[in-house]
Amino acid sequence: MNDQKLALITGAAGEVGKATARLFASQGWSLVLCDRVSEVERLAGALQEEHGRRCLGVVADLAVDEDVDRVVDVAAQTGIPLCFLGLVAAINHPAVRIEDMDMSLWDRVQAINLRANVKFISASVPHLRRGKNSSIVLVSSFWGREGHAFFSPYCASKAALISLTQSVAAELAPAIRVNCVAPGNIDTPMHYEALAVEAKQRSVSIDEMRRTEWAKIPMQRPANVGEIAAAIYFLSSEAASYFVGSTLDANGGCRFT
Ligand SMILES: NC(=O)c1ccc[n+]([C@@H]2O[C@H](COP(=O)([O-])OP(=O)(O)OC[C@H]3O[C@@H](n4cnc5c(N)ncnc54)[C@H](O)[C@@H]3O)[C@@H](O)[C@H]2O)c1
Repeated sequence: MNDQKLALITGAAGEVGKATARLFASQGWSLVLCDRVSEVERLAGALQEEHGRRCLGVVADLAVDEDVDRVVDVAAQTGIPLCFLGLVAAINHPAVRIEDMDMSLWDRVQAINLRANVKFISASVPHLRRGKNSSIVLVSSFWGREGHAFFSPYCASKAALISLTQSVAAELAPAIRVNCVAPGNIDTPMHYEALAVEAKQRSVSIDEMRRTEWAKIPMQRPANVGEIAAAIYFLSSEAASYFVGSTLDANGGCRFT
């Protein structure tokens, strides 16, 4: 029991979340996985069976403070030291012109992509302080590095995470290292949905939209989920022991001014 360590991962039923959960499980971590969909319980059960470590899935809506507290309580009640918080959950949204902005859309995106992460960090810090070599990794986006037309709610939320990482990292070091990963396009439904809405907005075909977007990437392809999970895992590891407040770009070489 003493050598056990617990990772809490949000958005664990999503594409990047699943890959991250699998990677941590394969490295001997116990897990609390949360998501708003019940698939997270099945994933937790399968990982516990496969790796023989405690693995719990919790269905929760991260926009609800009480749900966040409940997830953190589940982690605390395992009795296994919480050493890692991985904040992967987020939503995207349909393309929207600023003059057509429905403020409830703006509020919903900020509630999940930004506020829920603040609440999660706040609720978890007392537990992470008791863990050993504890760390937090947030997940921003290359769209947090540079604003993108028609996606101002998402881009603003992801830019804010980069600043949040810096503030909280400065506050919590050296006890807890806080860092962030900013992925570029990832080979996931979220990417293809974003391509589809933007293609519609710009009145071009999805194929043309894909070619245009991928041509901007020096690697000429989106990341696979394992490449993003690896960046998250690296920042949690002792190999990243001097990374504090960093945002690691995992975007195939895209550069922003
Ligand atoms: N897919 C991409 O191309 C891409 C690019 C850059 C950054 N990202 C970021 O990477 C992360 C993972 O993306 P993904 O492609 O795996 O997305 P995904 O949609 O597959 O996974 C996100 C998960 O978050 C969960 N979630 C959303 N709202 C929730 C809520 N209120 N309560 C609980 N859970 C909630 C969803 O159910 C889902 O399982 C996100 O932060 C995303 O913004 C993705």
